[in-house]
Amino acid sequence: MSDNTTGADEGADADVSRSVDWTNAIGDGGLVVVSNRQPYSHTYGDDDISVEVHAGGLTAGLDPVMQAVGGTWIAWGDGDADREVVDGNDCVPAPPDDPGYTLRRVWLDGEEVDDYYYGFSNQVLWPICHSALTNVTEWERYWEQYRSVNERFVDAVEDHTEAGDIVWFQDYHFALAPAIARERVDDTVLMQFWHVPWPAWDTFRGCPHGEAILEGLLGNDLLVFHVPRYRENFLRCVETVLGDAAVDHETGTVQYNGHSTQITEFPMGVQVDEIAERASSDEADEFWADFTEKYNVADTVAIGVDRLDYSKGIPERLRALEQFWERNPEWRGKLTYVGKSSETRSRIDSYQAVQERIEAGIERVNDRFGTDDWTPVLSFDEYISKKALASLYRHSDLALVSPIRDGMNLVAQEYVAAQGDDDGVLVLSDQAGASRLLDAALTVKPQNTGAFTDAIERALSMRGAERRARMQRLREQVSENDLAAWTWLNLRAARALHDGDGSVREPGLPTGG
Ligand code: UDP
Ligand code: G6P
Repeated sequence: MSDNTTGADEGADADVSRSVDWTNAIGDGGLVVVSNRQPYSHTYGDDDISVEVHAGGLTAGLDPVMQAVGGTWIAWGDGDADREVVDGNDCVPAPPDDPGYTLRRVWLDGEEVDDYYYGFSNQVLWPICHSALTNVTEWERYWEQYRSVNERFVDAVEDHTEAGDIVWFQDYHFALAPAIARERVDDTVLMQFWHVPWPAWDTFRGCPHGEAILEGLLGNDLLVFHVPRYRENFLRCVETVLGDAAVDHETGTVQYNGHSTQITEFPMGVQVDEIAERASSDEADEFWADFTEKYNVADTVAIGVDRLDYSKGIPERLRALEQFWERNPEWRGKLTYVGKSSETRSRIDSYQAVQERIEAGIERVNDRFGTDDWTPVLSFDEYISKKALASLYRHSDLALVSPIRDGMNLVAQEYVAAQGDDDGVLVLSDQAGASRLLDAALTVKPQNTGAFTDAIERALSMRGAERRARMQRLREQVSENDLAAWTWLNLRAARALHDGDGSVREPGLPTGG
């Protein structure tokens, strides 16, 4: 198991949209999703096998999609009991409690995990995509395994794909797989969603094997980013690196090696209705009552929900909170910051370093301002259910979402979705993809501590009418762009390309069915 496991979870309520006719979107073929991270891991407990889920936007979004659409999801089997529960084809029904699709596991040995996952994916591509070049480590030894694991996943794709299917690669772990698959599987739509930012050319030029990465991605029929800026960055990188590529910025098409790839952006959304339902459930109310009693939470609450990643701007957030309590002593004892976190990729030095900084920051703030009956920063990383998480969002007066760089940041949207009729304030970094979607948030640059502190002050003193007006607009924005809309845009665009009508921006969800 890797380290950001959040625990067993309910899955049965995760219907992307009960009224969408998905067959209309995917046509006659089936859907095969390929990601590194699997939605459910099996692990040995004290006396039996338990099911666990990892924190992260990719699996949080794709699991409900697969439950609604059905098909096969190919992913790394990282749980220590994963092999025990699969059938002869390395498959297991998922979700385990209420199966709606097939999970096909791919096994990786220690060297593959080190070099492909911790190495090239997370110490080369992740920092480059997040413009954190100083976190790129010595890379040449990682490349061979990155390439061969991409090939091994394509082997699994071959096992599960028939003519007419859609193969949907996810994220930076599989930059080479699309071109390999193009050689090996016939008459399938190959598409990819890139969940992280695509950097500007001046940053991407630091990417080892950049040419192979771009060529691999151009094996797709459709390549999708969250926001136009990332698409435009990608097109400029292609233009600069691949001299033979014909790039049309207006239509977003690239012709290369006799193949055409459509590049576009569809911002990923969340399950707005389901999150609102969870937030107003009895279980959510019970959780909140227990939580506030157990931790003696102040009347006003700020929330942060993050994997402990250096891209999330958590030390910067703690500095702003510290300055806030320093400047506003009347708020001591009256505001609690709740940091719900999840450990992630801790074997990597840069992750260990940021996790130590976060711990030190929490200790510093609590030592400086805490009293016998008030802890300014409550930080916990144990698993809580989706309803409990929705409850935390709903009862928090403000959310502090402060990434230094983030592809989308679904947490910002989850907070809005959970507000229901409440009127919390979202403080959001302008470096998150979500910032483009959510224009009624209070925008911050996380490293500008003074302005970040101003934003917290402004959020806490905002009049009810302004809070409600802003939250209403944010709610409209997340509802229009919810997970069902995102799924529809992706699948319909893939099908349109396959059928040759070329229109990748089909409006409107079809209902019925
Ligand atoms: N999450 C969680 N527990 C945590 C931290 C995060 O369940 O302790 C979930 C969160 O609700 C969201 C996802 O993980 O669905 C994080 O997605 P986001 O796009 O914000 O960031 P990522 O972690 O994918 O970079
Ligand atoms: C981000 C990445 C995903 C990844 C997730 C959790 O959302 O875009 O691909 O699954 O973080 O990280 P992990 O390394 O645990 O899968």
